Amino acid sequence: MAKKIKTVFFCTNCGSTQPKWSGKCPDCGEWNCMVEEKVVSGSKSSIRRESKKPVTLSKITGNNFERIVSDTDEFDRVLGGGFVPGSVVLLGGEPGIGKSTVMLQILQELRGERFLYFSGEESDGQIKLRATRLGINDERILISCENNLEQILNHIDNNKPSIAVIDSIQTVYSDTIDNVPGSVTQVRECAGKLLRCAKENNIVLIFIGHITKDGMIAGPKILEHLVDAVLYLEGDNKNFYRILRAIKNRFGSTNEVGIFEMKEKGLAPVTNPTDYFLSERMEHIAGSSVAVSMEGTRPFLIEIQGLVTNSTYGNPQRNANGIDYRRLAMLIAVLEKRAGLPLSTQDIFLNLVGGLKIDEPAINMGIIAGLASSYYDTPLDARSVFIGEVGLVGEVRSVPFIEERIKESLKFGYEKIYIPSNSLKTINEKLKTQVTGIESITNLFKQIF
Ligand code: TYD
Ligand code: MG
Repeated sequence: MAKKIKTVFFCTNCGSTQPKWSGKCPDCGEWNCMVEEKVVSGSKSSIRRESKKPVTLSKITGNNFERIVSDTDEFDRVLGGGFVPGSVVLLGGEPGIGKSTVMLQILQELRGERFLYFSGEESDGQIKLRATRLGINDERILISCENNLEQILNHIDNNKPSIAVIDSIQTVYSDTIDNVPGSVTQVRECAGKLLRCAKENNIVLIFIGHITKDGMIAGPKILEHLVDAVLYLEGDNKNFYRILRAIKNRFGSTNEVGIFEMKEKGLAPVTNPTDYFLSERMEHIAGSSVAVSMEGTRPFLIEIQGLVTNSTYGNPQRNANGIDYRRLAMLIAVLEKRAGLPLSTQDIFLNLVGGLKIDEPAINMGIIAGLASSYYDTPLDARSVFIGEVGLVGEVRSVPFIEERIKESLKFGYEKIYIPSNSLKTINEKLKTQVTGIESITNLFKQIF
C-alpha cells in the first residue's frame, strides 16, 4: 500500500488527534494546546499477532516481583521497594532541577550487573565531569552519547543491561519518522519501540523527560499513560531541597516521597525533614508560626512567615511564596470578614520557609496565625503549632493524619498544639490531654493573643 503523509493536530493536554487546528481543543476544552504533527498512513504491518486467550483470575499465578534495590531508603521508598525488571519508569522535572544527577547516583547505588546510560544532551566529557564531582567511578555504568533510536536498540540488544536510562526522551529520534526530534510523534513512537524492547528483554527502562513550569509541549505528559511508573523531581532551582514523588506506580503506592538536599556532591537524603526546615527559625518574632505538613505518609513541621504592614500606596500588595496566591486571598478575606481585621489598607506577604510549595489545606490555620501575629505585632508562643483547615465562615475543619501530625510536633518539643475541635473525637486518650481543640478562628485568637 502506498504511503501517504497527512497533517493532523495533536492535543498535548488530553492526547486527542484533530483534523483541523483551532485555538481550543474540542475534546478537553483547553486553550493553546494543539501542535501540528505529520503522520504517515497507508503502511500496514505484515506481522500477524498471536491471539492471547482470556483466562480466569484464579488460573493466573501471582508474581512476586524480584526487585532491583538500592542502598538508599529514600529512593526505594518512592519506588515501593526498588525497580521491577521489565518495567518502564518516567522521571520528569524542570530543566536543571537535578534529574541527570539523581539518575547517575541511583545507578551507582543499585545492585545489578550492567547499566547503560544514553545521553543525548551532554557529551561523555560532561558526564565524566559530573561523575567525578559526585565521586562516581563505577565500572558497571556504560555511557553512550547516542540519540538515534535504532542505534540505542542495537546497544541494548548487544549489552543486555539490567537497566537502560534514556536522558532525555525528547532528544531521541528515529530515522523512519520524518518529524523533528522532540515532536509528539517522535517522542511517542520512539518511546513505544523502546518500551517493547524493555519488555522483551526484561530490563528496566528509565526515560528522563523535561517538563516546563506550565506543563508539557510534546513532553513527558503524553508518555504518562504508557509507562509503569511516573516519578517527578520537584523543588526550586533557587533552593536546595528536592522532592522525588511518584505520581503513578503500577508496582507500589504513590503515597511515598523521597526528600533530598542538593549539595556540592549531589543529592543527599534528608532523613529528618523537620530538623531541616526549621533549622533557621528565629523564635519570639511576630509573624512566624509553625504548621505540620504531610509529604506522602511522613509529617514534618514547617515555618510560615507573614508580614502585614501599612500600605503606602493606594493598591495594597499581596505576595505569596509557597502557596497559591488565590488561597492567600481567600484567607485574607476570612480574616477580614470573620475576625474583623481591617486588612484592605495593608500590604501582605507570606512565605513558606525553605522554598517549599504546599497545597494541602491543613496548614491554613498556621497561615492565619502567622498573618494575625504580624498584624497585632505579637509573637506567638515559640512552642505552639497549628494544625487545621480554615473554611470560608472561619470554622476550623479537621484534616487527615491528625495523630501523626500531633506526634511529630511532640517529638520536636512543641507542646501547645492547636487542632480542629472535631478531631478531638478521633484521637487517642493520651494525645487528647496534650492538645487544644479549636472551633473557629475567633476562638483561636482568644487563645493565642
Ligand atoms: P542536572 O542533573 O544537570 O539537572 P537536569 O538533568 O535536571 O537538567 O543538575 C542541575 C544542577 O544541579 C546544576 O545546575 C548544578 C547542580 N549540581 C549541584 O549542585 N551539585 C552537584 O553535585 C551536581 C552534579 C549538580
Ligand atoms: Mg540532564
